[in-house]
Amino acid sequence: MKFFKHLIIAACLIFSAAQSTLAQSTGRINFDQSWLFKSGQNSGAQKINFNEKNWLLLDLPHDWSISGKFSKNSLSGANGGALPGGLGWYRKHFTSENSVFGKRLSIEFDGVYKNAQVWINGHYLGIRPYGFSSFIYDLTPYMNPAGQTNVLAVKVDNSKQPNSRWYSGSGIFRHVWLIRNHEVQIQPWRSAIIATILKKNARVNGENWIYNHSKQNHTITETDDLLTPDGKVLSSNHLAFSLAGGDSIKIKTEFQVSGAALWDVNKPNLYKIVSRLNEGKVILDTYSQAFGIRSINFTADSGFYLNGRRLKILGVCDHHDLGCLGAAFNDRAMQRKLEILKSAGVNAIRTSHNPPAPELLDLCDRMGLLVVDEAFDYWQVAKNPYDYHLDYAAWHVRDLSDMVLRDRNHPSIILWSIGNEIPEQRMPEGGKMAAELASIVKKYDTTRFVTSACDNIVAADKNGFVDALDVAGINYHIYEYDKQHMQYPLRKFFGSETASALSTRGIYHMPADSTILKTSDLFCSSYDNCVIEWGSSAEAGWKAVKDRDFIAGTFVWTGFDYIGEPTPYDYPAHSSYFGFIDLCGFPKDGFYMYQSQWTAKPIVHLLPHWNWTVGQLIDVWAYTNCDEVRLVLNGKPLGVKLFADQEKFHVSWKVPFEPGKLLAVGYKNGHEVVKDSVQTADKAFSISTSADRKTIHSGGQDLSFVTVRILDKNGIQVPDASNQIHFSVKGAGEVAGVDNGNEISLEPFQASERKAFNGMALVVIKGNHTAGLIQLEASSPGLKSAKLDVSSK
Ligand code: GAL
Repeated sequence: MKFFKHLIIAACLIFSAAQSTLAQSTGRINFDQSWLFKSGQNSGAQKINFNEKNWLLLDLPHDWSISGKFSKNSLSGANGGALPGGLGWYRKHFTSENSVFGKRLSIEFDGVYKNAQVWINGHYLGIRPYGFSSFIYDLTPYMNPAGQTNVLAVKVDNSKQPNSRWYSGSGIFRHVWLIRNHEVQIQPWRSAIIATILKKNARVNGENWIYNHSKQNHTITETDDLLTPDGKVLSSNHLAFSLAGGDSIKIKTEFQVSGAALWDVNKPNLYKIVSRLNEGKVILDTYSQAFGIRSINFTADSGFYLNGRRLKILGVCDHHDLGCLGAAFNDRAMQRKLEILKSAGVNAIRTSHNPPAPELLDLCDRMGLLVVDEAFDYWQVAKNPYDYHLDYAAWHVRDLSDMVLRDRNHPSIILWSIGNEIPEQRMPEGGKMAAELASIVKKYDTTRFVTSACDNIVAADKNGFVDALDVAGINYHIYEYDKQHMQYPLRKFFGSETASALSTRGIYHMPADSTILKTSDLFCSSYDNCVIEWGSSAEAGWKAVKDRDFIAGTFVWTGFDYIGEPTPYDYPAHSSYFGFIDLCGFPKDGFYMYQSQWTAKPIVHLLPHWNWTVGQLIDVWAYTNCDEVRLVLNGKPLGVKLFADQEKFHVSWKVPFEPGKLLAVGYKNGHEVVKDSVQTADKAFSISTSADRKTIHSGGQDLSFVTVRILDKNGIQVPDASNQIHFSVKGAGEVAGVDNGNEISLEPFQASERKAFNGMALVVIKGNHTAGLIQLEASSPGLKSAKLDVSSK
């Protein structure tokens, strides 16, 4: 049980390892390592001296809820994931060396859920109620002299529940950064870069805000280097100025780029402006900002344009959790999530319904994904007793401004969303409130469009809510699309949420033609025909958008399943059924519908599995984009289906079951291009393991995701296998989490064993700080076990 052993060792290391030393002089460094954590009230834990016995040593990001037990009595309810919230404290000890002492020191939190109160050396720095906002504090006035210990203390209060409609997680769940400067500083989040594509070249306008925090006048030179996507300095600008003590100044810079390499979803070229402040030979500060040169536009009749090219937005809504790793942000886990989505043809993400970790935006910039950056799920009207409505009046201006200021240089962002299904859209004051929020956005960025996801577009229109938006988001209500377009031919629309179709990986209800949700059964069918009342099947949701040029695109609810909101069920169900990918990252059948529609890759995906009762009439489906599909059972042809003849995005047959091999062969232009098969499995015989990456980085953050399958003696996956699998990890890593995608499993996510669910499970391996070999063994009584090596370098 490597996982638990690690915790015990960690607790013993508290006094030796919890102390960090800052040696480098300027810049932004990651500050995630070696924090102490303890849950509960811990009165007085903000003080410099506090008894830290039995505090846990850990690295951030950290989510304490994910290691809790599922409970019917959890205050968050099944919608919050049925996991505990509560109170927790973090403390970090650090010293600075002479080179750092005397300089300015600030701390930046990417996000803390929620009500984060921060102290440095016993001095109170402030509170940030909204758990999804980033925030920065200046530590300088309270720092101890070089060589002496400083203590940061953070109190996190997620005890008042329910405060979210989905799993929030609890704790310092995103990265923390330390920013070190001289007293003259380029203010973080204040820099803006706007790239405009002109006829022959592109113009890049940049601005920085420079603050002189000292009492003296400084004579400064700002150098701005424009770096090409391959890292070469294309040109540099210099500007000398003097800045009086306590003063600030906006410095502008401009570049012309001929033959610019555009940022696009297929080629996400990123330029950079690196700004440097010098006083004589002393470098006072450096600041680096990536950006893209691209144009975006929405039209009322033909949707969205990127770089002048029409592009249907093929998006998904995404909640922030990372399955069994919880809400603790992990760069690799998020990158994998986006890779899997991209493989389905996804080109856009809506950060439902809150500002994301900034590193998600970095990934989208680098991977070529468009983003709807969303601020809120609630304004003044509550959806839950303790949600953001309590903080809205005091904080909405700050939270929204900070989101735009922090994020406005990301080329991936195309829309700012001021809210999701905001109840005020139905109220007369809604229009005014929307206009206020839109004006906050426009104060800081006029290069993108403001939207909101409306679930009652008719009321939103009546109340002037839609008038405040540049582009109207319609959630579901696909029957409104044409009516709205006819009534408002100049309005721009997109499907901000579509589908909400329910399915569970590997579950098939017969007969498949039922459109009524089977509430008697806590699993939903992979035939994707379970629909809740406001949504549509995946096929109908996509067809409505595909067939209408004026709808700029779709954001499917959802790409991945997420923890919480197991609608229409309640406990023991505690994660959602909406994803076309399960919580482990394993594609459900619906994944292939999107992939067949959204990519050019030839697809035939056959369902269901092939273990039934002899003679039973089976609905056989194949998602495809081929011209025709031929079906063959044990060598006997069962007929050809022409895809063009189908109303839907699949072809189907009714086949009396007989054991063996069912094969589907796809043809394009008369040529065989792809095939898929399902085979009757015998009983469970062995375990197989396969890692997404067999070499990872050491350093305590990188992950290898290992897919575990239960196979019969012929190597065929057993479709209903539920064997308990034990994971042992030796060497330079540990188990970071386990899962199987079963929405009602009450097994913990943070453990060293898991039952298979419909023949599959997931174990996530995390590398330690030190490099070495990681040896995984997956075993189960009565089955041949599997071994896998991952090397951490
Ligand atoms: C929408 C809502 C989403 C989610 C979804 C489930 O109305 O915006 O957050 O709750 O329903 O179908």
